[in-house]
This record gives sequence, C-alpha cells and structure tokens, in this order.
Amino acid sequence: MADLYQFRTAPEEPLDCVYFLHTSGRDPIADINFDAKEKRALHAKIKGLAPRGEEGELISGECPLDIAHRVTFIGLGEEDSLTHGKLRGALRLAMRQATKNREYQIGLAVSAVVPGLTHAESRLFALREASLADYTFDTFKSKKNEFDKIDGLHIFPLAKESEEELGERLASVRLLRTSIQLTRDLANRPGNDLTPEGLAMAARDMAEGLSGLRVTILGKKELLKEKMGGILAVSQGSVEEPRMIVLEHRPKKPKRSVVLIGKGVTFDSGGISLKPPKGMGDMKSDMAGGATVIGIMRAVAELELPIKVVGLVPTAENMPSGTAMRPGDIITMSNGKTVEVTNTDAEGRLLLADALHYANRFNPDIVIDFATLTGACVIALGHEAAGIMGNDEDLQHTLGKIGERVGERVWSLPSYDEYLSYLASDWADFKNAGDRWGGAVTAGIFLKQFAPEKASWAHIDIAGVAFLDKEHNGLPKGATGFGVVLATTYLQGLLK
Ligand code: BES
Ligand code: MN
Ligand code: ZN
Repeated sequence: MADLYQFRTAPEEPLDCVYFLHTSGRDPIADINFDAKEKRALHAKIKGLAPRGEEGELISGECPLDIAHRVTFIGLGEEDSLTHGKLRGALRLAMRQATKNREYQIGLAVSAVVPGLTHAESRLFALREASLADYTFDTFKSKKNEFDKIDGLHIFPLAKESEEELGERLASVRLLRTSIQLTRDLANRPGNDLTPEGLAMAARDMAEGLSGLRVTILGKKELLKEKMGGILAVSQGSVEEPRMIVLEHRPKKPKRSVVLIGKGVTFDSGGISLKPPKGMGDMKSDMAGGATVIGIMRAVAELELPIKVVGLVPTAENMPSGTAMRPGDIITMSNGKTVEVTNTDAEGRLLLADALHYANRFNPDIVIDFATLTGACVIALGHEAAGIMGNDEDLQHTLGKIGERVGERVWSLPSYDEYLSYLASDWADFKNAGDRWGGAVTAGIFLKQFAPEKASWAHIDIAGVAFLDKEHNGLPKGATGFGVVLATTYLQGLLK
C-alpha cells in the first residue's frame, strides 16, 4: 500500500495529481491550508471546471499551482447525507482514478465532516480510510492488482490543523492501518495456505516484532489436557490439528483486565452437515474473528495500553471425513457441560465455548468475542451492522455508540431466557443448534452458557460485515478488518 506523507509546500517533485473531495455546493478548498495567492489561482481553476460536488462526480484539469501537474475534484453529495460509506467510497474512487491515470504520487485534500461526528473524528476516519483505500490482496497473483501502483499519498493539512496535529493523526492512522491490513490479509488467505497451525504462526510472527506481547500456543495435547471437547470435536474430521492461540499483553499496574476471543475456523465446510457448494469458498474467512483479535492485539501492544488484554483464538478446520464428528454425537466441553451435536455446521459456538471457559483464568472484567457465527445474522442485518448480544446492556450500548462514530456499527439482539428452550436436548445439557428461527440469537444464547459469569461479556456476530462477496460501501471485496478500530477505540476509552 502507498506510503503516507504529510504534505509540505514545495515538494521536491510536483505531485502527479491532487484529489479534492467536497460535498455539494461547498468550496472544495475553503478548509484546506492554502495561502491567499494559492487560493486565488485554485478558485479561478474551480470556476472554469465548475465541479458541483454531486455524489460520484469526477472532474479533472491542470493544476494551476506548481505543487502538482493535475487536480481532480470528487463529489461527495449533499453534506447532510454524507456517511462513512460514501466518504470511503469516494476515497476508493480517487485511488482507482489515480491508478488508471498512472499517477504515482498523489495529494489528498479532504475536510468533509460526517453528520454527527466531531471534526476530529471525521478527519481521523477520512485519513484512516484514505490510507486503506488502495488495499488489495494479490499475494497469489502473478500479475499484481491495479492498486499496487500508487507510491505515495500526500495528505494536505486543513486550515485549522497544525503540522503537529496532522503528524499525530497520521501516526495513529499508520498504527491502525497496519493492524487492519494484517487482519484483512489473514482473513483473505485461503484454507490450504492458512491452516490452524499457520494462523498460530502468523500470530507468533506478529508478536515477535513487538515488545511485551507474550504468545502461547496450545496444541492438541494441551487441549486434551484442558478437556476442550468443543475445539477437539470440531477439528477431528480434519488432518489439520487444532490450536488455541493465547496472546497476552500484561503491562505493569494494569487498570483493567480484558479478554478478547476470536473464532478461528480456517475453513468451514460444514462438516458432515455439509454446506451447499455455492459460496462455500468464502468460508476460508471463517477465522475472521480470530484475525480481528490478532489485529487488535497488535494495536494494543504497539499503543502500550495500560490495560491487561488477553487475546484467545481457538482455531480448527471443520471438515467431513471418516473421523469427523457426526450429528447425534454428544461431546463434553471444558466446563463439564454436555452438548448434543445436532448440526456439525454449528461448529463456531463449540470452539468458542471452550475459549470462553478458558477466559476465566485471566480474571477478566470484560470479555468480548468476535465471530462469523451465523448466516441468520447476515439475513437479519445484511452488511450494515454486526449483531451484538451479551450479559451487560451498558457494554453493548457503549460499543454501539463507538461503532456509530468509527463506522463499524453493532446492533443489539435480544437475550430473552425463552430462547434457551430452543436448545433443549433430550440427551444432553444442550443441543448445539436450534431450528431455523432466531438462529443468530440462539447461537449467542448457547455462548452465554459458557461465558464467564463475573465478567461483562459481549458477543459480536460479524458474519455479515467481516467478509464481503463484492465491493460495498467503499469496502473492498473480501475481508474488511471489521472490529479492529471498534475494539481499539473502546479499549482506549476505558482509560478515560
Ligand atoms: N461460519 C458459519 C456462519 C456464516 C454464514 C458466516 C455466512 C459467514 C457467512 C457458521 O459456522 C454456520 O455454518 N452457521 C450455521 C448455523 C446453523 C447450522 C445453526 C448457519 O448460520 O447456517
Ligand atoms: Mn458452520
Ligand atoms: Zn463457521
């Protein structure tokens, strides 16, 4: 991805193009830091090109200043109806246009504010998304994707933004984008390339480059010792052995104790309850929750947050075979509860249940899990929000508010006791799957039976938002990295 720079006047070489993003009827340069002379020249140009700022509008011309060869104006639509998605989409459009025109060094001037956000929040969002707008996953392509061509993205300071302020913002953006990029790359990697062991290795590699992040990998032997019947059952049909990845960030005198858990199914075929072929390949991303947790842990360690944060990623491959778990099997989980497996495709909750129980040993105040858990959640909410449940409404509310601001929304689903009856089993303590109705909720209710009782716990079902089958809201096809910004912002908020 393109390097990020803070634009300074008189660059050594003129930029290839400067992109101005503006809402309808707004002067595209009003809030950008130009002097009076520069403004005069730009205004003359704007008068000639007459950009209107309508959504999707794209107008280019020669740059009247010697800082760049060209200027391009991209419209964002009405100011009142600007959204995270529209802004992100426009930034992606800018990057796409730049590659098409073979512009290698580009400038970006964006001051638009998403309604409801503060100027600072909007600015951080725009800068972060700009830094990610040329993300592409082409590890396996001999001919690299178009976006790889942009070398430098030069951010123009706002009129009311000091050099220092912009510098700090860019530093924070760089930190987060590296984590988001890691999360996306992991979730995009196919199942043959990223096995449970591979995911564990990726976590180890990530932690190696950072100080103060301890990695422990539990292998099959240790999982057997811990009696983690859920993780073991999910993996037993695959030749790939399961793992539990434990990442520990333990600062001196921590203010709080948080455990983050991410579903790490490196490929979900459904097992004996085999999925239909259409879209099955996308189930390479069924470890997106785990990837999110690994990305968050990276950010937490780099920020040196004074909070104890433990990341747990139970990881396995769900395959049908002669050794696979069968519908009807009864398994005993690490907390001693028994589960009748009525559907081997409801595997995520089995492996998360063991991780939730394992969380107890870290005495957490707060536990948050991220999981591509149910198709039912995608049916309920589409790609616009993740589903959230748990045992603490305040926690859900807090995450909901933050999600709205950072552009990673979560929407509460109910946890009424009645739903537990949907999982009643004639043979064991619970069934792992209910009938069709309320599928997202019953999955969460299942998890609740294993969640640490003393902690505030939230379950975030990211099935609809972690991986997209086509570009949407300015997010790329494939992995989005959903949750990294949400969780990091939440953790930073705990310090206030
Ligand atoms: N990994 C899937 C859920 C999923 C579906 C994620 C679509 C992303 C997109 C999960 O393991 C699963 O198969 N869930 C089943 C549960 C059912 C059998 C109770 C589902 O949602 O159909
Ligand atoms: Mn499944
Ligand atoms: Zn799954």
